[in-house]
Amino acid sequence: MNREKHLLETFPTIDGKTYIQSLDEFNSKLNIEITMQNIPPNIEYKGIKLQQQKDYQVPFIDLIVKIKPQRILEIGTGLGGFVIFLRETLNENGLSNTLIKTYDIFDLKPEIDYSVFDLKNIEYNIENIFNEQYDLINHDYIKDFIQQDGVTLVLCDGYKKKLEFKTLSQLLKKNDIIMAHDYVKDKKTFEEFYMNKIWDWCEIMDSDINEICVEQNLIDYMKEEFEKIVWSCKIKI
Ligand SMILES: C[S@@+](CC[C@H](N)C(=O)[O-])C[C@H]1O[C@@H](n2cnc3c(N)ncnc32)[C@H](O)[C@@H]1O
Repeated sequence: MNREKHLLETFPTIDGKTYIQSLDEFNSKLNIEITMQNIPPNIEYKGIKLQQQKDYQVPFIDLIVKIKPQRILEIGTGLGGFVIFLRETLNENGLSNTLIKTYDIFDLKPEIDYSVFDLKNIEYNIENIFNEQYDLINHDYIKDFIQQDGVTLVLCDGYKKKLEFKTLSQLLKKNDIIMAHDYVKDKKTFEEFYMNKIWDWCEIMDSDINEICVEQNLIDYMKEEFEKIVWSCKIKI
């Protein structure tokens, strides 16, 4: 049984959100503290679920058209709708050779019918690339992937966005882009404009990333567009 199905059965939603109590097996195996994880209401891309704010498409299409990424590294495949959307957007914009390397610690895909999609150049990995300290287990492999010629787009959408961002931002080259999901600039803004309005999850704020951004020469990119859909977007200069 896939994880989401299990969780839905275990913790039925009463308010449109699905609360995951614990990922006991995963957490005990990897020695990560048990946390309450709650998953945003699912929306779908062509029938495949994803966990994004409903207006996610236009900013990402604009970004892809602008930066023409040569590769994408995504942490947190989830149910796969987002990666399929990225794949199709790349293909529609002449970027069918752009490889998407996506990682998840769970395989949530077996019960999903992907047969209608062209999955060429999506590399699915069920693997944790981070150790307990969120250093990379195979640092050189990920670094070499990011460092190849042409723009790399890095998407942090796993459970520890601050740490994913901190670790991966150190591997970027000039003009690469790094993004983190569930971002709102500060708590006050979150409570005033997002919570109970457009998005109920804030897992990374400016105070979490300011220091590493200065250290790594990362500046805002398409800030206004992405703030609306709770992504932080930075370019390395
Ligand atoms: C919010 S969901 C991802 C949503 C997906 N990007 C989307 O837009 O639909 C978070 C996912 O991150 C995965 N995850 C958590 N820690 C991870 C890690 N260290 N490496 C890869 N995936 C991880 C979880 O299993 C979960 O499926």
